[in-house]
Amino acid sequence: MDPFTPPADSSLWCKNFLLGAATASYQIEGAVNEDGRLPSIWDTFSAVPGKVLAGDTGAVACDHYHRWEADIEMLAGLGLEGYRLSIAWPRVMDAAGAPNRKGLDFYKRLLNRLKEKGITTFVTLYHWDLPQHLEDRGGWLNRETAYRFADYVDLMGRELAGTVDAWATLNEPWCSAYLGYGNGHHAPGLANQRFATQAMHHLLLAHGLAMPVLRANDPASQKGIVANIGRGTPNSDSAADRRAAHRFEVQHNAWILDPLLKGTYPQDLFELWPGTEPLVLDGDMRIIASPLDFLGINYYFRTNVASDGAQGFRDVPLEGVERTQMGWEVYPDGLRDLLIGFKDTYENLPPIYITENGMASDDEVIDGRVDDPQRISFLKRHLAAVDGAIKAGVDIRGYFLWSLMDNFEWAFGYERRFGVVHVDYSTQKRTVKRSAELVAKFLKERRERG
Ligand code: FCB
Repeated sequence: MDPFTPPADSSLWCKNFLLGAATASYQIEGAVNEDGRLPSIWDTFSAVPGKVLAGDTGAVACDHYHRWEADIEMLAGLGLEGYRLSIAWPRVMDAAGAPNRKGLDFYKRLLNRLKEKGITTFVTLYHWDLPQHLEDRGGWLNRETAYRFADYVDLMGRELAGTVDAWATLNEPWCSAYLGYGNGHHAPGLANQRFATQAMHHLLLAHGLAMPVLRANDPASQKGIVANIGRGTPNSDSAADRRAAHRFEVQHNAWILDPLLKGTYPQDLFELWPGTEPLVLDGDMRIIASPLDFLGINYYFRTNVASDGAQGFRDVPLEGVERTQMGWEVYPDGLRDLLIGFKDTYENLPPIYITENGMASDDEVIDGRVDDPQRISFLKRHLAAVDGAIKAGVDIRGYFLWSLMDNFEWAFGYERRFGVVHVDYSTQKRTVKRSAELVAKFLKERRERG
């Protein structure tokens, strides 16, 4: 048995369990000034000195805009059954809201090719590259942006219907709202807690407005949203630390999942951040709680927390635990425990896809090969956690590796390598890592079993 292949009793052997890989437009495409693409908030943000490690930007990235055919060959060659990609809003619409044909054609060609290859397509409509002209009018702080998003989604639904198996409206609204408007680590780089909750409300409203539009324009597809989730564990058994861990999870998980699945914001959130209640208009929560066909879950690590002596929590990094190149703790149980917890908390929990999971390591090509043993073990253990959740009754239908290839890791630039395929940024050469070879080997075995 190799170090990846799941045990014989794993649900992963079921061929209905979709195994794929994920990417996002700004992280891989490059070609930021081509064919009428408009600037996005990430072009602006990454041009500001000090915002991104080493001054990196997505201007070239993996040059996927030009190399997409070879990249799809590579994906198909690995036997991956699903591909989660995102559409760059500033590529497909001009500032007046008219379609940009050249940008649209790029995604049509890409999606048609994926269909020809028999690959299941998951398309994210917003993976953080907001058109800069909308940010200039307030971005996600402006309610109007939610309506502009619905217009964009309307166009995408009409143009791309039939080539998309599953649509996700937003990727990780927590990151857009909190990192973008709350602490400023991501574009557009604003730092105000009150902004974060208001931006979140408009993001969720955008999602809710987009759902019926997608249902009307592309009835046969699945529609949902992708949320990142965080595990918070208490540093001690004290009531204060347990409460801190609870607050951590409210801030990371319930802030998004409660409005989507219960139609309310968790009140604990506003005890943590007093005075930050967003402006909610009549009917908004009903729009936001539009039924989902699936929920995408992105999971990476856990955070060990203690009480901050007041209403909040502080991180208490554990010593002697395994960490990745990001410094994130490897903690597969967090994924299983959160999924089981959601099943118990939300009676209408939709079917789940793990839309991202993976890790960064400082991978190097040596004699034409990339050995990434930590990733192999990481993936094996996280897939075992998924299997554990399935066996406990959670309806999980698939898993996407983050990421197909090394790419622009936001504020960390190109230093952090999350791919199962290595990218040499000076030559754009792709080298399949050992982890990808083993995933491919497993998928081949699974197909042969029929
Ligand atoms: C997630 C993002 C994704 C990638 C991974 C590492 O938060 O959705 O684009 O950067 O983290």
